[in-house]
Amino acid sequence: MIRKDIKALDAYHVPDSSGMIKLDAMENPFPLPDELKSTWLELLSNVKLNRYPDADMCDLRTKIAAKDGLNAEQVLLGNGSDEIIQMLLMASDAGACVSPSPTFVMYDLVSRWLKRPVTTVPLEKDFSLDANKFLQLCAREKASIAFLACPNNPTGNMWSEPTIRQIANNFRGLLVIDEAYLPFADRTHTNLIAPNVLILRTYSKLGWAGLRLGYLLGDAKTISELNKVRLPYNINSLTQASAGFLLDHFKLFEKQAKEVCFERNRVTAALMSIDAIEVFPSQANFLLIRTKNADNVFEQLKQKGILIKNMNKKSGLLKSCLRITIGTKEENSTLLAALKEIVE
Ligand SMILES: Cc1ncc(COP(=O)(O)O)c(C=O)c1O
Repeated sequence: MIRKDIKALDAYHVPDSSGMIKLDAMENPFPLPDELKSTWLELLSNVKLNRYPDADMCDLRTKIAAKDGLNAEQVLLGNGSDEIIQMLLMASDAGACVSPSPTFVMYDLVSRWLKRPVTTVPLEKDFSLDANKFLQLCAREKASIAFLACPNNPTGNMWSEPTIRQIANNFRGLLVIDEAYLPFADRTHTNLIAPNVLILRTYSKLGWAGLRLGYLLGDAKTISELNKVRLPYNINSLTQASAGFLLDHFKLFEKQAKEVCFERNRVTAALMSIDAIEVFPSQANFLLIRTKNADNVFEQLKQKGILIKNMNKKSGLLKSCLRITIGTKEENSTLLAALKEIVE
C-alpha cells in the first residue's frame, strides 16, 4: 500500500512551543503593527472566498518581480519555498541532487520522496565550501540539480562570491541558489540568473511565515516550464491579498530586518564573551553555537521556557551545536542571561 522507504521516514516534527519564547524557526519576532492590521483586515473582508483564487497571479508576480528589476514571466510562486523545492525536483532531469552538508533538510527529504539519488559535499571545518570539490562531485554523480543555500542554514554563513560564481559558471544542471535569508545578508545573486541558474526566496523570514509564500526568480523560459508542475491555485486568495498589501508596506519589514541584524550582532558579541560557547559568524537571522553538553543546555533552556533548535549530532560538523533564532531585544536578553547561568 505505502512504499517501504516512505514507511521508514519520520514525519517532519514541529515541537510544541505554546507559552515559550520561540527561537527555533527563524521567524520574525515582530507582530504586524495595529494600525496596519485594521486596514489589512478590511482588505481581507472583501476577498471572495466562494471563488477560486486568481490562478495566474500576474499582478502579484509583477509586484514581486519589480523589486529586482525583472518581469512577471520571471517569477514562479509557491506555497512557501518548500513547495518550489518540490516543483524543481519534480521537473528537473533524472539524476542526482547535490548539496553541501550540512544544509537545509528539505533538499534531501523531497529528493527521497521522489526517489531521486542525493549526494552531499561536506563543508570544510570553518563551514566554507570548496567549489572544485562541489563541481567534481556533480560531474562524478551526473547531477542534474544542485542547491546552494546562501546564507546557509544551519551554519548561518555566506559562501564567498567567487565560490558561488565558479559553481554557477561551470555546473551544467539546474542550480538553485536559495536566498531564504537575503533580508539579513549583504549579497544577492540575481546577477547570476541564467537558463540553468535560479534564485529561490521566501517571505517567511521577513515576517510572513504564516502566509506561506515563496518565489523563484529566473529565466522566463525555464520558469514557464517549471510552472507546468505547479498545482492549480497553489496560492490561496487570502495569501494573495495579504502579500499584495504587505508588499506595499515593504519598508516596515526591511526596517524590522535591520533591527534583527543589529540584535544578531549584539547577541554574537555577548556570546563571544562566554568562554564555554563558540559562536559562528552569521549573515542570517539566527546563530549557530557550539558548547559542551549541548543536549543538556537545550533541555535546560526549554525548562526555562526558551525553545531553540538542537542540532547536536553524534559526530560531524554539527556535533555539540545549537541553533538560536534572533528574537526581540527582550527575548534575546532573556536568552543570554539563561545561557550564561546554564554554562558558566
Ligand atoms: C534555506 C531555506 N530555504 C527554504 C526554507 C523554507 O522556507 P519556506 O517557509 O518558504 O518554506 C527554509 C526554512 O527554514 C530555509 O532555511
